[in-house]
Amino acid sequence: MPAVDVIDPAPVGFVELRDDALVCRRCRLAEGRTQVVFGAGDPTADLMFVGEGPGAQEDLQGLPFVGRSGQLLDRLMAEEMGITRDDCYIANVVKCRPPDNRDPSADEVSACRPWLETQIDMIGPRVIVTLGNFASKLLVDTADGITKVRGSVYPYRARPDGVVVQLVPTFHPAAVLRGGADPMAKMRSDLVRAKQALTAGPAGATGPAGLAGPTGSGAAS
Ligand code: URA
Repeated sequence: MPAVDVIDPAPVGFVELRDDALVCRRCRLAEGRTQVVFGAGDPTADLMFVGEGPGAQEDLQGLPFVGRSGQLLDRLMAEEMGITRDDCYIANVVKCRPPDNRDPSADEVSACRPWLETQIDMIGPRVIVTLGNFASKLLVDTADGITKVRGSVYPYRARPDGVVVQLVPTFHPAAVLRGGADPMAKMRSDLVRAKQALTAGPAGATGPAGLAGPTGSGAAS
């Protein structure tokens, strides 16, 4: 065998999905955006991060988490998981910047949701770290806030091969930047939890009953 690096190709249809998303006009956020921030990283990764939506820097550069929050995310990924953003895939709940960085509205989240769902299906991660309230409420499917939801691992849904995708909710890095030592320590322990979920190996499909509640509560806190 020749000693060459083999780069995994993007999943079938992923480039087309991105091309379609880049011209999306499914909601009013299309009117104010500079560009769609589809996502970035390795589209074959076992690990995804999902944030809320692009801010000013992301809107200008077309890439997720490139501002101060992103710098913190990069640092904590490296320090707690030993990875860089090239080792995972980073996306957001909404792909266009809400004006004045307001929260995305429920109809904007609904309009954008198929892009995220299809990204998750195509990438097929084993673990998704949800950053903050929007991503955590949407994917964990709960009305509970992040302070209550974090600290546990939640089953999301089974991939076609039966592996159940695990959700690890944590604080949004912007909240950590505002909140100081306590949220920082909790986010660090959540990232350790995500690393453990990754290294624990694939979780098998457990059927609907197994998708009902959290597991591993407080495993690394
Ligand atoms: N905040 C987010 O939620 N996503 C980004 O891409 C940047 C900041």
